[in-house]
Formats: sequence, C-alpha cells, structure tokens
Amino acid sequence: MIRIDVLSLFPGLFGPFFETAFVGHARRQGLLSIAAHDLRDWATDRHRSVDDSPYGGGAGMVMTPEPLVTAIEALAGPKGADRRARVVYLSPQGAPLSQSRLERLAGEEALVFVCGRFEGVDERVIELAVDEEISIGDYVLSGGDLPAMVVIEGLVRLLPGVLGNPESIETESFRGGALLEGPHYTRPPIYRGLSVPEILRSGDHGAIAAWRSQQAEGRTIARRPDLVPALQSGREQGRNRDTKQGQKGQEGEQDQEHGREPGRKKRRAPEPAKESTREPGREPGRDDAP
Ligand SMILES: C[S@@+](CC[C@H](N)C(=O)[O-])C[C@H]1O[C@@H](n2cnc3c(N)ncnc32)[C@H](O)[C@@H]1O
Repeated sequence: MIRIDVLSLFPGLFGPFFETAFVGHARRQGLLSIAAHDLRDWATDRHRSVDDSPYGGGAGMVMTPEPLVTAIEALAGPKGADRRARVVYLSPQGAPLSQSRLERLAGEEALVFVCGRFEGVDERVIELAVDEEISIGDYVLSGGDLPAMVVIEGLVRLLPGVLGNPESIETESFRGGALLEGPHYTRPPIYRGLSVPEILRSGDHGAIAAWRSQQAEGRTIARRPDLVPALQSGREQGRNRDTKQGQKGQEGEQDQEHGREPGRKKRRAPEPAKESTREPGREPGRDDAP
C-alpha cells in the first residue's frame, strides 16, 4: 500500500477527489492510504499565519519556513536517511511532469505533496525539507492543489491492482517512449454518418495491430513533431508492443477494459463488421488518417 499525505491551505478541495473514481477505488481496495492536512494546524500564533511579505519588497506574500518545515517533517521525517516519505513540492519551476516520473513516484512507499500558494515558499523550505519539485506545465496556477491532484491521479492508476486490465496501460501514449496512442472507437458502427474504420471490425487482429501502430506513428508525427526523434528510437519497442497485443487478440481476448471506471458494467467488445452495418459510399474512418 502506498501512503500519500497532502499539505495544503485548502484541504477541503481534496474531499470528493479522494472518494471518486480510481483514487476512491484504490482506497477502498486497500491499495492507497491518503489524507489532506491543513498547514494552518501547525501554525503557532493566534492568527494561524503561514505567510509574510517578501524580503527586498515586491508584490505578494511568501509562505514562511515555519510552520511549513515543521509540518513536512511531522509527515515525512527530517530530510536525509531517516526520511519516511519522499517530499514533492508542486512548483511551476519544477521538473516537468512526465509518464516516466509518474511511474517512478508510483513505486514509492510514501509521498508528501506540498501545495504552495501566494508567491510560493521561502527558498529555505526547499533546501531543508523538499526532495523534488514538479511542474505540471509552463503556466502559473494560484496554488499547488490542482497540480497535486494531477500527479496523484496519474500515479494512482499505475498502482498494481487499480486498473481492471493493466494491459490497457501498456498501449497508452507516452508509455515507455514518446508514441501517442491512435484513435479509439466503440459502438455504434456509424454515428452521424461517420463510420468506424473497417479494419477494426474485420476480426483480423494482426492487421488491426499494424493499423494501430501506423495510426499511432502518424498521429505522433502530425501532432507532436517534437517527439519524433524519441519516436524513431522507440519505434522497435512500439512494434513489439502492438504485435504482442495482436497475438493476445488472436487468442480470443475480445473483452477490453480500457479506461473503464471501477464498478461500471463490463460490455462485450463490438462485433466484427457485418456487411449490413456499412454505410454505402462513405470511406470508413477517412477523418482519422494521419
Ligand atoms: C502563484 S504560484 C507561484 C508562482 C511563482 N511566484 C513563480 O513565479 O514561479 C503559487 C503556487 O501554485 C503552485 N503552482 C502554480 N503553477 C504550477 C504549476 N504549473 N505546476 C505546479 N505547481 C504550480 C505552486 O505550488 C506555487 O507555489
């Protein structure tokens, strides 16, 4: 079980988030223990202060070292060998969040997420009590609460036993490389004149795997040219992955749980194409060519 503590000035923001979807599911399954703490509970003055004006002047307030360092140490222990949890400060100046970073965090035994507010935290907090800074993107939000939720959501779904079908992670975008996943379709076979690509209803799993691989590559090149060098080096890996998936399909594994919320009724995969479901005169999936 992974233990996650969140330090925030607005712990109430996390209530429904901890109860819902995969995070709630992981808690109920005993795979995750998670709590949000009010930083002001560690404040010692009667105003429960957590911020002060910046040295050198300037706009805004800065989160003071006390009570923040004390609160972090109460949850994670002192920085160093006796630390009980990895401390992550959410910051626009942190290392960019990535799938591989989430995978690493999901492997930790315990995490503490520190949510900043105002202009951020006094720099000495980072030196004394933070192990890692993570940014969720090159933009500035008012607080670290939503970034913490983004990281938690991203890592919880990677915990063993959380997703009904862990194989669905294997084929996702960014998994082990830089490939975006290709398009998805479900019922009905024709919606507002747009058909599901014929090949997906063919029942030919080898051809489906090849089509998906080609779609994923085309989509990566079209949408994320910055990822193309990584795509080229990861191409071989991606092919292996898709081939594996195709072989599984041939063994009769039709039932996909990809993205299914816990507790939702499982549906049978759409049937292979029948002649009568095809719309005459329309090219299936023509809008999805890379
Ligand atoms: C208004 S921001 C502070 C921005 C800071 N003055 C700067 O310019 O870098 C307040 C808090 O929101 C959180 N935050 C804002 N944007 C973020 C992002 N892109 N990623 C992670 N955390 C972010 C951090 O916890 C930060 O301490």
